[in-house]
Amino acid sequence: MTPIMDSLRQLTADHHRRAEQQPLEQALARGTLPKDVYVQMLEQRYCVHRALDRLTRDACNRDARLSGLVYEELLQWGRLAADLRHFGVAEEEVEALPATAALCAEMETAAAEEPASMLGFYYVTEGSKNGAGFLAPRVRAAYGLNGDAGTSYMNPHGPRQRELWAAFKERMNAVAFTELERERIVAAALRMFDAISETDAALYGGVAVG
Ligand code: HEM
Repeated sequence: MTPIMDSLRQLTADHHRRAEQQPLEQALARGTLPKDVYVQMLEQRYCVHRALDRLTRDACNRDARLSGLVYEELLQWGRLAADLRHFGVAEEEVEALPATAALCAEMETAAAEEPASMLGFYYVTEGSKNGAGFLAPRVRAAYGLNGDAGTSYMNPHGPRQRELWAAFKERMNAVAFTELERERIVAAALRMFDAISETDAALYGGVAVG
């Protein structure tokens, strides 16, 4: 059987292309995204990770096959909170946009009905660290940031990124997921890509018309 990580990569390739081509992502890469939109993006990612990190950790804790698959250092909620604090945003001020709120509600349902599907949602954010690492220096230059302050979410593992990503792939491939779980994991990953692209488009819409 095809390793789950190969299936995820192949079956979500078009979605990755679409996500990467979002005007917001392109502006991040060029260093032209207005800083307030960057902060709004962090706010939405914060809302996603507040639900995603908790639900994924719970799913891994409750199923012996998933034990240790996702661990504290990989989770992004705390880094997002720290980046937001750097920009003067308190966690309690953050509000989810409709696309983000809808995604969070779906993750709650998915976690209750098919806990392993959380790994599909999670895969997208874990994989996105690969591209984000390239973007972090551009973001720092664009906003005059130093060190990790304000970009700890975008570059959480520094030079260890490749090694941690390879290890995550190995752990995922070693799990004996059922056929149904594999289907749900892929569906969740596709949904996650769409939700992030939708949020990026909503945030960038203001830049385009403003
Ligand atoms: C300008 C924006 C982006 C760039 C330049 C970019 C670049 C990359 C690169 C170079 C990799 C390959 C890593 C490797 O195989 O060694 C990668 C992987 C990945 N990226 Fe992106 N990315 C971007 C945006 C995004 C976004 C917005 C998401 C999520 C919504 C995302 C999700 C992923 C995922 C899940 C993988 C892992 C693919 C796999 O299974 O191998 N990326 N990205």
